[in-house]
Amino acid sequence: MIRLDALISNSGAYSRSEIKVLVKKGRVSVDGQTVKDYSLKIPETASVAVDGKVLDTEKYIYIMLNKPAGYISATEGEKNVIDLVPESMFRKGLFPVGRLDKDTEGLLLITNDGDFSHSLMSPNKNIIKTYRAVLERSVTESDTEAFAKGITLRDGTEFKPAVLRSDGEKAGIVEISEGKYHQVKLMFAATDNKVLYLERLSIGGLTLEPSLKRGECLRMTPEMLKKI
Ligand code: URA
Repeated sequence: MIRLDALISNSGAYSRSEIKVLVKKGRVSVDGQTVKDYSLKIPETASVAVDGKVLDTEKYIYIMLNKPAGYISATEGEKNVIDLVPESMFRKGLFPVGRLDKDTEGLLLITNDGDFSHSLMSPNKNIIKTYRAVLERSVTESDTEAFAKGITLRDGTEFKPAVLRSDGEKAGIVEISEGKYHQVKLMFAATDNKVLYLERLSIGGLTLEPSLKRGECLRMTPEMLKKI
């Protein structure tokens, strides 16, 4: 059971003081019945409406963003990925799950569910992230072997074995199971190559929706979440 004002608050549409006024004025109904007590305890599954319009009271939201270049993976500061979340999906406490560099594009998840993010980012989960990189030079067999062995940088940073395959001239597909800072760029730099453009294509079994344009968000369904 949950208090009515808390359930309405999940929708992100109203402040606590607005909710109190709405309820007192008789504009709120629970399962079709008008209620005037905002502290009423109701089931979390109750259908709550304001002026007859049913609210989305799910506490957690999971958003797929097709990140464009020029946005930072942060919740504030210069142009950031939360700025791209449309009002209909906005909730308090939204944050990106992991980071893509400012110039990296593609699949980025945004949520307000800390446990979900934590379990996705956990290194021992070994969730494979797939990237497409446009490169200064084409991928060779020895690059693929170096990635497969696991690359160690001069400063001692070690990257776990990764899959690299050519994606035509001067482009490659990379699969990594960690998410270290600038990882893909650093791995290519270690093989005397340079990433000119980077896009994330998938996280686990979840692939960027082809219909989602750069800068667009979609609300993920439970089926989509299961694919990860
Ligand atoms: N690796 C990078 O170098 N940059 C990213 O944005 C993601 C992975």
